[in-house]
Amino acid sequence: MALRAAKRTWSGAVAAAALLTLLLYLMFARHPAAALERLRPSRWPAAEDGIPNQVHVVYVLREPTADVALEFGQALCVFAARHYWHPRRIYLHTDAGPEAVARARDGRAGKWSRLVLNLPEVRVRRVTAPTEANGVEIKQVEHRSDFVRVQVVRELGGVYLDLDAHPLRDIRPLRRAGFGAVGGRQHGGQVNSGIFMARRGARFVSLWHDAMFRVFDGGWTTHSNDLATRFGQQLVTEPGEMLILDQAALAPGSWLEPDCVDLYEAHDGGDDDDAPSWSHNYSDTYILHAFSPARGGYRINGFDHITPRYVLERRSNFARAVFPVAKLMLDRGLIDIDDSHLGS
Ligand SMILES: *[C@@H]1O[C@H](CO)[C@@H](O)[C@H](O)[C@H]1NC(C)=O
Repeated sequence: MALRAAKRTWSGAVAAAALLTLLLYLMFARHPAAALERLRPSRWPAAEDGIPNQVHVVYVLREPTADVALEFGQALCVFAARHYWHPRRIYLHTDAGPEAVARARDGRAGKWSRLVLNLPEVRVRRVTAPTEANGVEIKQVEHRSDFVRVQVVRELGGVYLDLDAHPLRDIRPLRRAGFGAVGGRQHGGQVNSGIFMARRGARFVSLWHDAMFRVFDGGWTTHSNDLATRFGQQLVTEPGEMLILDQAALAPGSWLEPDCVDLYEAHDGGDDDDAPSWSHNYSDTYILHAFSPARGGYRINGFDHITPRYVLERRSNFARAVFPVAKLMLDRGLIDIDDSHLGS
């Protein structure tokens, strides 16, 4: 009896092992990359109760037929988030249709979109960007993006990152500080709407999202920074709801000309490891929100676009700050020093 039982167990084990081998063979032989992705530890739910370690970026098209054409600087933001934070997911929320996404993925919308859209953590998520609120047409893509960003963080939780906001160090201590939401001041004292993080359904993003549809008036910040500041400050009085960081933390410079010059101007002889006299020390910055000088139409010495060469030469404060991630990309053969900012 005992022998028969042992034999049965043994043949059961052999059958199970054979089945497992066959399964593994099918998974790896047919889709090796996909199978590895399924086995990545980050796929398993993280036992953390802070703000989830996932990143949201938003790309709203200027016209329905436009491409998802990321520039080098935007790809750098995504690679820096990946490098410093190791997020479970990086969501790219866009109103682009499947064809535009396929074009971007296979390189027909430039190299930088191809690199970003093929990263294993990146998930493209189709969204509808609102075109009207409070009876007013939402004309600016930036404003349509404002609505999407607050909605997705409310719905999914995580870190919202403008594509000109460059992570410089890990933010895990901020996500785990025990607050429902974390934001930061910008020049002038308002809470910046280009970088914020929250738990799913946090009061900060819920109040903000509901209110933005009521107050929208086409003004640049009525529905964005104004509300983020109002609700952010109000929620500090409720324990654990809101942490507001100082200006250096997320947006040390500004959109004003002297700050843009300080950030982007190229100096001579920056390509070494010392701290040149013009260098800015970002030791108290988590994320560098690099406001573009293009909006103000400022002309800046030695700066045209964020290109691999401009960053790798380290002749400006911006270049010095984001250099480590660009260097990693260079070392991995992902960038060529002569690539253009459009990657085409
Ligand atoms: C930047 O500031 C920090 C803190 O004040 C300091 O420890 C560090 O040495 C500084 N870095 C440089 C390159 O001066």
